Amino acid sequence: MSVAKAETAENLIARRCRDDFVTQMRLQYNPYYLAFEKQKGTRVWLDGQEMVMISSNEYLGLGEHPKVIEAGKKALEEWGSSTTGARPSNGSRAYHVELEEMIADFLGKDACHVSAAGYLSCMSSVASFAQRGDVIFADKNVHSSLVSGMKLSDARIERFSHGNPKDLEDILSYEKPETAKMILFDGVYSMEGHIAPAQEFVQIGKANGCFLVMDDAHGFGVLGDGGRGTANYFGITDDIDIISGSFSKSLSSTGGFVAGDQDLIDYLRTHSKQTIFSAALSPSQAACARASFEILQTEPEHLEKLWINTRRMKAIFEGLGLDTWGSNTPALPVVIGNKEQAYVFWKALLEKGVFTVISTSPSVPPGKDLIRTAASSRHSEEDFAIIEEAFAYAAKQI
Ligand SMILES: Cc1ncc(COP(=O)(O)O)c(C=O)c1O
Repeated sequence: MSVAKAETAENLIARRCRDDFVTQMRLQYNPYYLAFEKQKGTRVWLDGQEMVMISSNEYLGLGEHPKVIEAGKKALEEWGSSTTGARPSNGSRAYHVELEEMIADFLGKDACHVSAAGYLSCMSSVASFAQRGDVIFADKNVHSSLVSGMKLSDARIERFSHGNPKDLEDILSYEKPETAKMILFDGVYSMEGHIAPAQEFVQIGKANGCFLVMDDAHGFGVLGDGGRGTANYFGITDDIDIISGSFSKSLSSTGGFVAGDQDLIDYLRTHSKQTIFSAALSPSQAACARASFEILQTEPEHLEKLWINTRRMKAIFEGLGLDTWGSNTPALPVVIGNKEQAYVFWKALLEKGVFTVISTSPSVPPGKDLIRTAASSRHSEEDFAIIEEAFAYAAKQI
């Protein structure tokens, strides 16, 4: 090989990265990757300015709960900082197994498997079970982790329109009975805040011999009896083959889970690349998730307050004539409808001391560019006064 020739050839991938228009726009407008200097409760500090955080998914507000902090510290002392290994080799610990048993029991499933990120769990809840030759029928708005899982699986992918059982039924009718089929949806959609019509999906799935997978990252700890999630809310826990979720929302930690029948979880442990080749959930994050999980079951006031605050925040937005896209959960979008105005709106909120996240197409459907907010049980009346004033001001800027 001629070294001189290699040195003169252009690196096309590096050029593509440097020239990338989307990255240039992101750096120019700078709405993402903003690093806070400090945080306390519902407040964050950016460039010295104190702001009310309303885009965190910390639904139950447990991130500074004394029992959670104590559990995290104790686990570090007892188990060290990391497992430095994957579950099948050197990474399994008693605390993983205990947490798995607790979650399975809580959800009403046989078994559960935890991993280091919700993204990994949700991706593996698809990629571990579907394979080449299968067909996956997925709601158009499913989370990116499920999209990654679908692509990794090598199965054929068919998308049905968001939250639309009729469309699902139509596209299913073209498939042969002998084809292995999976139906994939979120229990609660993270951007839209919509609850899936899961009962209808179950009915259609059963009639067509489908394997049902539900990502309940935003339903777990929020919906159903004591926060048991979307399947419990609809009374269909036994009908959903696999429920996946995250510890980074209601449980104020990181990590995720997949729950189902024992034979399915055994199968996942044999086949999930995300489990076999990725280090296990760390001791302190597992301990924080577990402590939050215990608080969810012993201190119901956090969940009650979450729903009081959800209604309060939604009433503020709707009182100002803003469009919350029909959300009926703590994940509350404010739809602005185009990128430029969404950016102006977001900036105005920032100016008035309210931190939100802007989400534009293609992350959301065209025309649904939005400001994504989430209620937390920790938001106070003082926070709501600031939020109301800021949204009233922002609405006047567009
Ligand atoms: C629906 C959904 N699934 C999965 C995930 C991934 O969870 P995590 O952020 O804990 O990795 C998220 C987080 O954004 C989510 O909203």
